[in-house]
This record gives sequence, structure tokens and C-alpha cells, in this order.
Amino acid sequence: MLANRFVRLSVIYALIGMSLGIAMAISGNHDETPTHAHINLLGYVSMMLYGLFHKAHPKAAEGKLPAVHFWLSNISMVGIGIGLFLTFGGMPEAEPLAAVSALAMLASMAMFAVIVFRATK
Ligand code: HEM
Ligand code: HEM
Repeated sequence: MLANRFVRLSVIYALIGMSLGIAMAISGNHDETPTHAHINLLGYVSMMLYGLFHKAHPKAAEGKLPAVHFWLSNISMVGIGIGLFLTFGGMPEAEPLAAVSALAMLASMAMFAVIVFRATK
């Protein structure tokens, strides 16, 4: 079920994002703050909201678009996470991965906007 898949992945992102926060707090090196912030906010918070929206509107998960949104948002999340982690870890060559993934994430949000508007007519 789409809603459960979003909710399950969101708590995985929370565990990764929080672990990075703890690692930054322990090391005193906060270079990865944007990575930490966006794994938590795009990964945990946004994916949880997608999942809870689908719980509230079960019919919104019907059709191809919601499945494409699920995959595109999660592939983008992995690309953003890895791209930002490497970039802020001292590998600026990884920035294009973060940039392309961020644009893909924006595209996935446009899909979610269509899903929300359809479901709330
Ligand atoms: C175990 C849990 C967490 C720890 C140990 C932690 C730790 C940290 C640390 C060390 C920073 C850098 C602070 C700085 O340099 O100014 C930070 C920033 C941040 N964290 Fe967390 N964090 C945790 C959970 C979360 C969660 C759950 C969210 C969001 C849902 C979050 C959102 C943010 C944001 C947005 C920033 C950037 C704040 C800014 O720009 O000033 N964090 N966190
Ligand atoms: C594709 C989507 C997104 C892109 C490309 C993006 C990009 C950025 C950029 C360039 C910064 C400045 C980072 C810096 O100063 O080093 C930033 C900061 C921030 N963004 Fe985003 N963002 C996105 C999505 C979001 C979302 C969905 C949220 C909240 C739900 C969010 C919350 C924040 C917060 C709290 C900060 C300040 C924390 C920090 O200093 O890293 N962003 N974002």
C-alpha cells in the first residue's frame, strides 16, 4: 500500500537524518547541516506527510501518477542525500548529483500537487 510505503521510508530517513545530527553534535563539525536538515525535512517530514495524505485520501493512490511520484521522490531523496553528503564532505564534484536530484524532487512535488488537487476537488 502506497501510504504505508511512504510512512515506512520516512522513518528510515529520520533515523539516517538524526544519526547525522548526533554525529555532527559529537564531532563538533557542523559542515553537514544542510544535508542533515534536508534528509530530515524532505525525507522524514515530507515523506511522512505524503503517507498521511494518502491515508486520509485512499482514492488518491489510484492510477499511475501516484506510483511515479513515489519512485521519483524517493530516488530524488537518495540522490540529494548522497549528493549533499559528498559535496559538504569536501567533494564538490558531487554537486551536480544534488542539483539534478533537487530538480527531480521539484518535478515530483509538481506531481504531488496534481494528486492533491485531484483528490480535493
Ligand atoms: C537526534 C536528533 C537531532 C540531532 C542530534 C540534531 C542535531 C543538529 C545539529 C548539530 C545541527 C547543526 C546546528 C548548527 O550548526 O547551527 C542541526 C541543524 C538542523 N537540524 Fe537537527 N538534529 C536532530 C534532529 C532534527 C530533526 C528531526 C529535524 C527536522 C525534522 C532537524 C532539523 C534541523 C535543521 C532544519 C537544522 C538547520 C538549522 C539552521 O539552519 O539553523 N533536526 N541539527
Ligand atoms: C528540492 C527541494 C529543496 C532545495 C533545492 C532546497 C535548497 C536549499 C538551500 C540551497 C538552502 C541553503 C543552504 C545553506 O545555506 O547552506 C536551504 C536551506 C534550508 N531549507 Fe531547503 N531546499 C529544498 C527543500 C526544502 C524543504 C521541503 C524544506 C522544509 C520542509 C526545507 C527547509 C530548509 C531549511 C529549514 C533550511 C535552513 C537550514 C540550513 O541551513 O541548511 N528545504 N535549502
